[in-house]
Amino acid sequence: MTDHRFIRAEVTVDLDAIRHNAALLFAHAEGAEMMAVVKADGYGHGAVEVARAALGAGATWLGACSAEEARALRKAGIDAPILAWLDLPDADVPSDVDLGVSSLEQLRALSGRRIHLKIDTGLARNGCPPRLWPDLVRAAAASDNEVYAIWSHLACADEPGQPSVDRQAQRFADAFRVARDAGLDPKRHLANSAATLNRPDLHFDMVRVGIALYGLNPVPGTMALRPAMTLRSSVVMTRRIAAGERVSYGGSWTAERPTTLALVPVGYADGVPRGLSNRFDVLIGGVRRPVRGLVCMDQIVVDCGDEDIAVGTEVVLFGSGSGGEPTAREWADTLGTIDQEIVTGMSRPRLQRRYTG
Ligand SMILES: Cc1ncc(COP(=O)(O)O)c(C=O)c1O
Repeated sequence: MTDHRFIRAEVTVDLDAIRHNAALLFAHAEGAEMMAVVKADGYGHGAVEVARAALGAGATWLGACSAEEARALRKAGIDAPILAWLDLPDADVPSDVDLGVSSLEQLRALSGRRIHLKIDTGLARNGCPPRLWPDLVRAAAASDNEVYAIWSHLACADEPGQPSVDRQAQRFADAFRVARDAGLDPKRHLANSAATLNRPDLHFDMVRVGIALYGLNPVPGTMALRPAMTLRSSVVMTRRIAAGERVSYGGSWTAERPTTLALVPVGYADGVPRGLSNRFDVLIGGVRRPVRGLVCMDQIVVDCGDEDIAVGTEVVLFGSGSGGEPTAREWADTLGTIDQEIVTGMSRPRLQRRYTG
């Protein structure tokens, strides 16, 4: 027996880090309101807990995607304004939740709601195409819905100096003028995390911060954010292998010399991408050690050399980086993806989630 607490696969979310990031971002927003974007279960961090932390540190709005996400926030007793921006046309969104509206069809299905009219300024996803915008704002002005704001979303705000940001800003200004001409007096919101950090001229009445709130900076170097999420497991078994032995499915790694392998019970079913196979390290006993062979559904194998590693030793897969462990950004860079995909992937039934702070 051992006195270690074995961790199979656990995500720790540091709510102090969320508060720290929210407070910094809010101060930087300089008078604009701040919406904490907590869709996708708070980017894998837990929507309700993140919402409460962010609302206590400057955020006044919450951003959700679906009716279900908005309902979960209300069910938890959170009464802050919520904007739910993308759901199925027949979704039953609670009546005290604001809706994003991108088309006449969507508008006509609504009555007595508070809405945010979305103009497509260049992302070509949802949002009303500029040629249809005058009809939409006129119809909204004549409807019994309250037009709270107009809004849009930027395509390339994380690339400072990218000319498309200015083009989108110009189209947004044009859309605002058309809305005013139709008799509306809406607020405006456009900036995501990246634009909040690097385009203060685009803060308008509210910024919508997602990834930066979680401490992952889309414009590195702009602000000292603290990553809130850590993924941990523990060593459940060790074995010595001889030179020439191959490791894991397919034998994709061969030991060049005798070495000790540590078995760690976490795999792609827990959100560790298989694409990281033979390409990442974990932190064991304060030292970064390479993972060998393929990431399996439930396990990885770590090369500990001649080190004597005790069963039960903690394994940090990624975290803030402050203890030398890899970060979500490192995983994202290795995989050619973005931080968002890594952290939202940490929302699996088998993962335990624990809060600190
Ligand atoms: C409409 C909208 N606004 C804001 C955000 C937040 O973006 P970010 O995580 O880059 O801050 C998102 C996230 O994708 C979004 O869809």
